Amino acid sequence: MIKLDYINVMDFWSKRYRNEGALWGYTPSVCAKTACDMIPDESDVLDIAAGYGRDIAYLAKKGHHVTGIDTSHVGIDYARDLLSNDSDVDVTLHEADFLSFPIEKQYDAVLCHRMLHLISKPDDIEKFVEKVFAATKVGGYIFIAARNPHDFSNDQMQEVEKGVAEYKNRPGHRISFWEEKRYKEIFGTHFDIIACEETSEIECSANPVASHITLMIARKTASEMTKTKPFRVIN
Ligand SMILES: C[S@@+](CC[C@H](N)C(=O)[O-])C[C@H]1O[C@@H](n2cnc3c(N)ncnc32)[C@H](O)[C@@H]1O
Repeated sequence: MIKLDYINVMDFWSKRYRNEGALWGYTPSVCAKTACDMIPDESDVLDIAAGYGRDIAYLAKKGHHVTGIDTSHVGIDYARDLLSNDSDVDVTLHEADFLSFPIEKQYDAVLCHRMLHLISKPDDIEKFVEKVFAATKVGGYIFIAARNPHDFSNDQMQEVEKGVAEYKNRPGHRISFWEEKRYKEIFGTHFDIIACEETSEIECSANPVASHITLMIARKTASEMTKTKPFRVIN
């Protein structure tokens, strides 16, 4: 069995999009729907790990100005195709790793649907939080959904660290689970958490079983990350 490293896990998504197309169909995620209910018209929105663009298309057609980032070149190509007939939407796409992406602009809302659980190294989680903070305007909202511990499957996964599982048939493909307590520990120091809601959506169209996720809705109210507590990632 080939051992995957994180880069290959990224390539894994390009292969999946190429082989399976729109993995979750074209209905928007809970992150995008919740954001649309809460943010003002014509907001600047950043969609981290936008995949093949289902949320970008939904938000842009509602009149928001959307920037999407994804490491998968196939995902970005599909997103471009999805929007090719909509000349009146304002969308910017980047094929890039969010963890090393230079943040040159701040957004009214930052979304990240089903990617945070793919980051398992504490330093990378810390980088993710810092980048999300840097990308959000003061007063702006973040909507982050990640797989929660109910998604652990004894048949398919083994626990490799506390709170981190690895697929048995895909060594290197790790899932770092998020639930309310963890969101509060990691994000609550820097953002005002409005709600954490457990929900589910299909694993993917080819395997339409429930995938359990927790959505965090939070707001940035401070202009600087708090320095009173040292930043610690507790797995
Ligand atoms: C489960 S998919 C979710 C896609 C999309 N948010 C959706 O719900 O339709 C995870 C996505 O995260 C992307 N991804 C993983 N790590 C990333 C990173 N460091 N920066 C940007 N995108 C990343 C993958 O390429 C993949 O498209």
